[in-house]
Amino acid sequence: MADECFGNPRLAAIYDPLDPDRSDLGAYLAMAEEFQARRVLDIGCGTGVFALLLAGRGIEVVGVEPAGASLDVARAKPGGERVRWIEGDATALPPLRADLATMTANVAQAIADPDSWHGTLRGAYAALRPGGRLVFETRDPARRAWEGWTREESYHTADIPGVGPVESWHRVTGVEGPLVTFRTTYVFAADGAVLTSDSTLRFREREEVEADLALHGYETEDVRDAPDRPGREFVFVARRPHA
Ligand SMILES: C[S@@+](CC[C@H](N)C(=O)[O-])C[C@H]1O[C@@H](n2cnc3c(N)ncnc32)[C@H](O)[C@@H]1O
Repeated sequence: MADECFGNPRLAAIYDPLDPDRSDLGAYLAMAEEFQARRVLDIGCGTGVFALLLAGRGIEVVGVEPAGASLDVARAKPGGERVRWIEGDATALPPLRADLATMTANVAQAIADPDSWHGTLRGAYAALRPGGRLVFETRDPARRAWEGWTREESYHTADIPGVGPVESWHRVTGVEGPLVTFRTTYVFAADGAVLTSDSTLRFREREEVEADLALHGYETEDVRDAPDRPGREFVFVARRPHA
């Protein structure tokens, strides 16, 4: 299971208010503008924050997400009817001819299983028009971000309207080569409920991602920095060639 909290309705409902700072999406919005995207496929759209930002700018958006509970949150948001939501992953998409495909907030790392990863790259390629781009971020393994995923360093509390105070923290439970598994604990003050969610992320080297992209026919046009997390992420801009 890559990231089971997104499929739990109680956890999906607090995903946005727990971390309302989505300045990470600014770079993706800027890229949609830079590439003059009129049709975007958002892979692993979660609760639909980015898909709805795009739709609000008049862009045609398809959001695909395997976790039904997250998609329910997305659908219910104002403007939700402007997006075409698909429950699933990028391996079985209808024909789209998208200008841009995106994987925001480390979706690429959540696709930890090699078959799913290759299926995603293949599916995104097929969904792009010739000349269309796939953009996504992945943490630089050299920065060893998981070392900060301790209770002490990740402890967070938020008072969520309609829910009450929620405490949360991460704790790494295993590191096996490029795979990092961690448990997130959520404590709901309102009823004392304690929920946990286990996630596994794959940390890929830059060269490995470039090789995988080439294998599936993409040209890596650029590898950028994430402006809100300088030096910590690789932001890949990969292009489906014109012909
Ligand atoms: C950290 S969340 C990011 C959600 C959203 N992109 C955002 O910016 O808020 C990672 C998402 O990746 C999704 N995911 C996991 N495996 C996936 C797969 N094989 N294909 C597509 N999405 C996947 C999870 O369900 C989750 O919604």
